Amino acid sequence: MPLILVLVECGIELIPKQIRNHPSVKKNLSPKIYSSQLLDNALHSSAMKNLKDFKKRGRPDITHICLLNALGSALNKHGDLLLYIHTINNKIFRFSPEIRIARNYNRFKGLMAKLLIDGSIETGTSKLIGRFEGNLKELINKFEDPEVILFSSKGTLINSYKDLFKMDISKNYIIFIGGFQKSSFSKDIIDLSENIVSISQYPLDAWVVTNRIITYYEQTYEIL
Ligand SMILES: C[S@@+](CC[C@H](N)C(=O)[O-])C[C@H]1O[C@@H](n2cnc3c(N)ncnc32)[C@H](O)[C@@H]1O
Repeated sequence: MPLILVLVECGIELIPKQIRNHPSVKKNLSPKIYSSQLLDNALHSSAMKNLKDFKKRGRPDITHICLLNALGSALNKHGDLLLYIHTINNKIFRFSPEIRIARNYNRFKGLMAKLLIDGSIETGTSKLIGRFEGNLKELINKFEDPEVILFSSKGTLINSYKDLFKMDISKNYIIFIGGFQKSSFSKDIIDLSENIVSISQYPLDAWVVTNRIITYYEQTYEIL
């Protein structure tokens, strides 16, 4: 069974209308340059201070590093990873295992802005990134016998990675990792899982957790 990995509440969005006239935003914004249209707290932090949940927003870099780790994994090359991102504005996108994400951060931001504007990224006959038209609950219900594991530094600490995946091939393991920097999961997300798990005594970066979970899955199923 493939591992279904969802990076949830990712800090990826177009610059909200309410701050488009702020000087720190206007300075960098160009309608002709896709990357300039994405909210990025490295550029827009002073404008973001009045946005709701601003601590969770404007961090495309976190999604970028997590995606590079996930798509470059042996699990993905083996065809056993289903990869989704869920944005802070509740949009869900599925990434094709074949997509080669730009290593360059600015080019990645351009791709994400184009995705949010157009709704998908396609080349010729293949869809590299497609929109899932539904919410997270509907995504979970798409899979037979799903088991959702929410990873959080506040979860129950596991003793060993062997406790995570029970090698039950009938199960669809759906993994939620937060794609944001600070603060905690929204209640809507917490309510979707009865299993909240911590893998370390320390709070870790999302990309470290992404890497570790994929490695644990590879080790459990002996994918090298
Ligand atoms: C930088 S953290 C978000 C900040 C939040 N205060 C936290 O620690 O959960 C990014 C994500 O990494 C995952 N994470 C961080 N530390 C973890 C841990 N010790 N065990 C499991 N997941 C962890 C969670 O999914 C979290 O949402």
